[in-house]
Amino acid sequence: MTIKTINTTPYTDQKPGTSGLRKRVPVFQQANYVENFVQSIFDSLEGFAGKTLVIGGDGRFFNDVAIQKAIRIAAANGFGKVMVGQGGILSTPAASNVIRKYKAFGGLVLSASHNPGGPEGDFGIKYNVGNGGPAPEKITDAVFARTKVIDSYKTLDTADIDLGTIGTQTVGDMTVEVIDPVKDYAALMEELFDFEAIRALFASGFRMTFDAMHAVTGPYAHTIIEDMLGAPKGTVINGTPSPSFNDGHPDPNLVYCKDMYDLLMTEDGPDFGAASDGDGDRNLIIGKNRFVTPSDSLALLAANAHLAPGYKDGIAGIARSMPTSAAADRVAEKLGIEMHETPTGWKFFGNLLDAGRVTICGEESAGTGSNHVREKDGLWAVLLWLNILAVRKQGVDAIVREHWASYGRNYYTRHDYEEVDSAIANALMTDLRGRLPALAGQVLEGLEVAYADDFTYHDPVDGSTSSMQGVRIGFADGSRIVLRLSGTGTVGATLRVYLERYEPTDGQHDLDTQHALAPLIGIAESLAGIKARTGRTEPSVIT
Ligand code: G1P
Ligand code: ZN
Repeated sequence: MTIKTINTTPYTDQKPGTSGLRKRVPVFQQANYVENFVQSIFDSLEGFAGKTLVIGGDGRFFNDVAIQKAIRIAAANGFGKVMVGQGGILSTPAASNVIRKYKAFGGLVLSASHNPGGPEGDFGIKYNVGNGGPAPEKITDAVFARTKVIDSYKTLDTADIDLGTIGTQTVGDMTVEVIDPVKDYAALMEELFDFEAIRALFASGFRMTFDAMHAVTGPYAHTIIEDMLGAPKGTVINGTPSPSFNDGHPDPNLVYCKDMYDLLMTEDGPDFGAASDGDGDRNLIIGKNRFVTPSDSLALLAANAHLAPGYKDGIAGIARSMPTSAAADRVAEKLGIEMHETPTGWKFFGNLLDAGRVTICGEESAGTGSNHVREKDGLWAVLLWLNILAVRKQGVDAIVREHWASYGRNYYTRHDYEEVDSAIANALMTDLRGRLPALAGQVLEGLEVAYADDFTYHDPVDGSTSSMQGVRIGFADGSRIVLRLSGTGTVGATLRVYLERYEPTDGQHDLDTQHALAPLIGIAESLAGIKARTGRTEPSVIT
């Protein structure tokens, strides 16, 4: 088989972010676009000759096309083997697991997460390293630099691989193994959780609904929740992955899962509702009459993890992204374990997990996970919740209220201002930063400012420093305001304002969240002048 070297020209404006390279499908469909990016990844790596590469994606439009190209380029560049999910499917956490389990050199995860798919939707390519986690910045920087000067890529002239058939095929000198995308992941979940207790829970009449959103978790949820755990057929809805996600938006939040929310708020609805996003790493948790915020979910999972066999000896520590509420901090304090506050983005958890410093991690943006893989994991969070419900034999609402009664409650919300003019957003942040030194000790709306800074993270494992990760204004009573600009938006700037108020409580009285946070919303507005600067009277999204 002769390796072809194809001349190509570089293109600019494609710095891969924390989630890899994400663009509209027509951009990826340009001649040599996928090829240039995949070759640039391989050009930035060393020592993979003869080694294994894992490839899989969330099944969105163009997944199959990109996979065939990537397989040929991997073969031409000297990989020994590619492991690819049947039908091109691997959820992001499942891909992380396969990389770890089979000690692969790395993997390509093809997804644009919770963004819409289809011919006009989004597509993405991300490279994960041997620990199963997203490539660190030094690799993504090298890839970016390479894409700017690349002048050729290597490929082969071969027929397409049959992605539908499990088993081994060859491409040039390379082996391609098409694997069952669910099997290894399901086995890992069975190791971590008390499947017998969860089976008994379903057998007792407990009812749940899981919305796979026409995305990648469908096959995983059908197998694990219905076949292995015995939930009635129909528990998993929208469970067949569709290239366009049935023209939906596979983002598991209260906007796109409103029907499920409404169902859970009725007396005769199911006991538990959950959903996951396009590539299976985010989660939504709703109990009967109780939506659980991701920040509270992180705290609750950490506090109860020991009820699952995989965590029976306790957890080493917890990490949360800086804007995530401090609810988990109170759990860590009580358990006497390490607590870490990291910048936004899952990649910052990798070092802490690898070093065994933390076991459970989470972000306010609906990502939760543990040391079982190096990605956040939607179904994992759902199964840990089920395990806890099965062992405690209580409903979600009762468990949440008991948690608040023993730890206090962190009222929490995030206000997003999307598609703001970048210059205006940057000036807002710069001016706000300039005001921080004068804020310490001031009393605003009756609240004393304990600290005001722009968050700098010192990685305790590799000693690296990440500065300017978001403005934090902390108050003496534990309340907090955080402002930062999104790193994942595609049009203009997205300003995110995170608000949090701590309240010791008996867990019984329940304020409306926006109402409870109104004084802090007012302080944020008066400090940053959001309305005057952006011309917006209200946030684009409130979560
Ligand atoms: C957002 C979330 C962040 C998450 C990231 C990737 O990033 O806020 O928690 O890790 O998406 O899923 P942002 O747009 O805020 O930079
Ligand atoms: Zn995702």
